[in-house]
Amino acid sequence: MAPIVELRAVGKSYGNIHALRDVDLAVHAGRVSCVLGDNGAGKSTLIKIISGLHRHTTGELLVDGEPARFSTPRDALDRGIATVYQDLATVTLMPVWRNFFLGSELTRGRWPFQRLDIPRMRSVADAELRAMGIVLDDVDQPVGSLSGGQRQSVAIARAVHFGARVLILDEPTAALGVKQSGVVLRYVAAARERGLGVVFITHNPHHAYLVGDHFTVLRLGTVELSADRADVDLDHLTHQMAGGAELDELRHELTGDSAP
Ligand SMILES: Nc1ncnc2c1ncn2[C@@H]1O[C@H](COP(=O)(O)OP(=O)(O)O)[C@@H](O)[C@H]1O
Ligand SMILES: [Mg+2]
Repeated sequence: MAPIVELRAVGKSYGNIHALRDVDLAVHAGRVSCVLGDNGAGKSTLIKIISGLHRHTTGELLVDGEPARFSTPRDALDRGIATVYQDLATVTLMPVWRNFFLGSELTRGRWPFQRLDIPRMRSVADAELRAMGIVLDDVDQPVGSLSGGQRQSVAIARAVHFGARVLILDEPTAALGVKQSGVVLRYVAAARERGLGVVFITHNPHHAYLVGDHFTVLRLGTVELSADRADVDLDHLTHQMAGGAELDELRHELTGDSAP
């Protein structure tokens, strides 16, 4: 089956800074593709290209096997590619159901007598959250009263409800503790079970390995490792993320020991 989204030898430069060079990535339905890398590795640049925020300068972007070119994030969204950013655009005083439908409110009646269909938005939001296994005390509670993990989860459920086929998550667990990260990782797995292709950006190999089907490690804009789960173990992934060969050299310099 063709990947939903594919990057082939994609490069991106900002002036004379090469943020990405020759990057390949495939996003398949029902699979979690993890993108790992240190600060400045090019992770955000990569997802900005897939989500229509930035244009790549070389290489190809394919959607459903056909070359695609996005001018705006709306174009990506129209193809079912939804992005959940780390700094979620949520209005903290708004009830959960209102936030769920923000910008796509349900109405009833005909123009000019349209009114918000509050009961339906409440019940749909409640049902969708439950379908993802997210149980809140009350969908009327303000978003600000949710934990960080719950907020990410609501954003994921929202993307699924509005028809996302690909879900891009930019470091969703970076600011969270262990328990809250677990909450988010469960919804990453739930999104995969619902058949979405997930791109999970993180610099935590442990989080990646809990849910990942494929791993791409970026370093200074190039692919350092691209491997299916069957071909890489957590130790190797952790070592790559920690700096790989560079770490070995540093160990040698500081301790006189050679690589283990
Ligand atoms: N808008 C921009 N203009 C110029 N350089 C940028 C811009 N965005 C990112 N870069 C550069 O591209 C490289 C990759 O950045 P980024 O994609 O944000 O990495 P990461 O998300 O992995 O930390 C960095 O060297 C960064 O300074
Ligand atoms: Mg980033």
